[in-house]
Amino acid sequence: MGLAGGPGQSQPVVLRDLQVTEAARLPTGLTEFDRVLGGGLVPGSAVLIGGDPGIGKSTLLLQTMGRLSAQRRVLYISGEESVGQVGLRAKRLSVDCGQVPVLAETAVERIAAVIEAHRPEVVVVDSIQTIYTELLSSAPGSVSQVRECAAQLVRLGKVTQMAVFLVGHVTKEGAIAGPRVLEHMVDTVLYFEGETGSRFRVMRAVKNRFGATGELGVFAMTEGGLKEVKSPSAIFLSHRSVQTPGSAVCVLREGSRPLLVEVQALVDETALANPRRVTVGMEANRLAMLLAVLHRHGGIATGGQDVFVNVVGGVRLSETAGDLAVVLAVLSSLCGRPLAHELVVFGELGLTGEVRPVPHGEERLREAAKHGFKRAIVPCHNAPKGGIAGMEIVQVKTLQEALAAFKG
Ligand code: TYD
Ligand code: MG
Repeated sequence: MGLAGGPGQSQPVVLRDLQVTEAARLPTGLTEFDRVLGGGLVPGSAVLIGGDPGIGKSTLLLQTMGRLSAQRRVLYISGEESVGQVGLRAKRLSVDCGQVPVLAETAVERIAAVIEAHRPEVVVVDSIQTIYTELLSSAPGSVSQVRECAAQLVRLGKVTQMAVFLVGHVTKEGAIAGPRVLEHMVDTVLYFEGETGSRFRVMRAVKNRFGATGELGVFAMTEGGLKEVKSPSAIFLSHRSVQTPGSAVCVLREGSRPLLVEVQALVDETALANPRRVTVGMEANRLAMLLAVLHRHGGIATGGQDVFVNVVGGVRLSETAGDLAVVLAVLSSLCGRPLAHELVVFGELGLTGEVRPVPHGEERLREAAKHGFKRAIVPCHNAPKGGIAGMEIVQVKTLQEALAAFKG
């Protein structure tokens, strides 16, 4: 972003008089990655990529740098692995590393010197937790080291208009500072996540000064590195077994596109005084609230039951549009009756038992129709006037009506 009144020019500027030109973004070559970044990489920006060890951060960035190196000067700084190790893995995964120079270095002062000499346009620091500065005596990975090194690299990036990727391992509480301590210092924070055992990886923007948050990119891990998944709905539903109780499909909106996801519930008699409410992919408090609404306004008690809810595929129900699916999945498990295989549901549940409309109803329904769903239970006002071809849409105003639609 070429801004007048940048650093070192301590003058107040009237925004209206400001000449702002947005610098061209660099496409990473992976459209899913570009989407999460808000439409490509912004020169001079600092991007933090957090994730569990082994999730695929290094591989993703090496692939990306390989692509970028065809047109840009790039530099990959590895503080964790030797140049040989990086090269071997790239070879094993037949990742095309293009013209990427790799530097194995952990002292931030020496890294800065190499950057000054080579002037890369994009640099990867993998990982920030291995980098240290001679200015501080604390160990690499400590909060003060991680913060100071990141600050130096981010500043260098801003001054030289170099985009900086900082890799941060998510750590269990312990000696090493996790990516959270850096979130406020960078422009964009991305988390790379995946379920253990699943080959799918989801990248999520939790902060982005240059784009929307909530944007989701989906990748598949293969023997040949990461591949982008352009139609994620299909994969999140692909392993759905036919007609089992406790499963409901809903349409979420992740960032700018609709996404079909399966919500699973298991309701089982409890052996405990305080029944368990365990969730993966949604807030446990939200579940507790929905169960209370189900009891009070639907007359269905789960007080003597353990309730487990899982959102399949490592997706998170960050939207209230998933409420209705959660409630119906719970009910379906409780009474051992599957929902129709071609049924999709979405809608927000209020404390008074009303079903509230959610944004972009028509778009959600179209996505469901595209994937072969024939029936939908949705909030009133969420269905388009002309309907959706090939889909029966049941509009409900209250939880009672939704339950009747499930039973009927
Ligand atoms: P790696 O990129 O090293 O993870 P991180 O940097 O997040 O710790 O990936 C971990 C391992 O997974 C590595 O041995 C390579 C393997 N892998 C694949 O086989 N295919 C893939 O598509 C990816 C991304 C990784
Ligand atoms: Mg790594």
